[in-house]
Amino acid sequence: MTDLLAKFDRFAAEHQTLLDAGLLDPFGVVMEEVLSPTRAVIGGRETILVGTYNYMGMTFEPSVLAAAKAAIDRFGAGSTGSRVLNGTFAAHVGVEAALREFYAMDHAIVFSTGYQANLGMVSTLAGKGDVIVLDADSHASIYDGCKLGHAEVVRFRHNDAADLDRRLGRLPKEAGRLVVLEGVYSMLGDVAPLKELVAVAKAHGAMVLVDEAHAMGFFGPHGRGVYEAQGLEGEVDFVVGTFSKSVGTVGGFAVSNHPKFEILRLVTNPYRFTASLPPAVVAAAEASIRCLMRAADKRERLWAATRALHAGLREAGFRLATETAESAIIAVLMPDQEATVAMWDALLRHGIYVNMSRPPATPAGVFLLRCSLSSEHSREDVATIVDRFIEARASLAAAAAA
Ligand SMILES: Cc1ncc(COP(=O)(O)O)c(C=O)c1O
Repeated sequence: MTDLLAKFDRFAAEHQTLLDAGLLDPFGVVMEEVLSPTRAVIGGRETILVGTYNYMGMTFEPSVLAAAKAAIDRFGAGSTGSRVLNGTFAAHVGVEAALREFYAMDHAIVFSTGYQANLGMVSTLAGKGDVIVLDADSHASIYDGCKLGHAEVVRFRHNDAADLDRRLGRLPKEAGRLVVLEGVYSMLGDVAPLKELVAVAKAHGAMVLVDEAHAMGFFGPHGRGVYEAQGLEGEVDFVVGTFSKSVGTVGGFAVSNHPKFEILRLVTNPYRFTASLPPAVVAAAEASIRCLMRAADKRERLWAATRALHAGLREAGFRLATETAESAIIAVLMPDQEATVAMWDALLRHGIYVNMSRPPATPAGVFLLRCSLSSEHSREDVATIVDRFIEARASLAAAAAA
């Protein structure tokens, strides 16, 4: 009999080597208890979380928790159905209304995850005979959306407007075009030059979709994302986002002013052929989005913490992926996989959880320890995080010298 899992033997062996070396498992961390947006108990020890996407600290916001509890009492634990059949409750309609208000757009559609939002939007908007032109560093959900649909797919060099222009210029005149961009790219934490990219896309008659997963809440005057911060309202056709980061729960969405947008509910498989989100989740999301409409103080705290951590790590001699704190993700560049895993392990033993990232999540040859901040990290937290990075590095140097 064929062993269909044999193709993963190399990865399994690599993973086992790491465990045999006595290192903690970077892909098997268990949060035994979560104490706040910035603290959890891991391995019996209180740990500072510097690797979540809890940018606006909404997971413990009292009004969000109250809304979730009330929704369980009113609607029960789950919907047991698709949005287009029995799975639309008042709570789903409520969160879509909140999104329309937050983005000041005419239409909002909620999916069960951000992954499914990209899967659905990308695969459905561009069909046979159309072309999707996407940034080479796009999130896996965008790539998977391309695989699910029937459009031709063309990649352009990361954040390179001249390359986008060249690629669009080579397309047949009659082909429908969708350019897919992200506001913040989650691996390196770099911000897209959307102004240039969108201008190029529009000059070639393309529609534009921007995924603002890592920017919602704290980019732009209303927290709508990088497209708002760069003055592109009215220029972007579709904005995709997630509830799993700044909103603090789970779910995905797309918003648009396109007058024909509502038909997508009836033709998008990752929307119509899956159960809708549980009412507690959408009620929490609505309460959270309404808080984000008045979250200037959180936004300021998040940017202050981000700038302080970027400066602190840089002064301590760590190599960072961006020159300045462009977003709330600060990626520390590491030389290779071994050094990355060792430092990740040492940090966790020093009470700091960060994300370890390596190919294929990162571009080839790029190994990262990714820090992401929350509005709820205090100045003292940031100082502690920098100190622990220095201590972890020193403990590894001492072990290597011994
Ligand atoms: C850019 C981007 N888009 C979409 C997603 C998927 O979001 P979700 O976690 O809601 O599935 C992510 C998640 O990491 C992301 O980084």
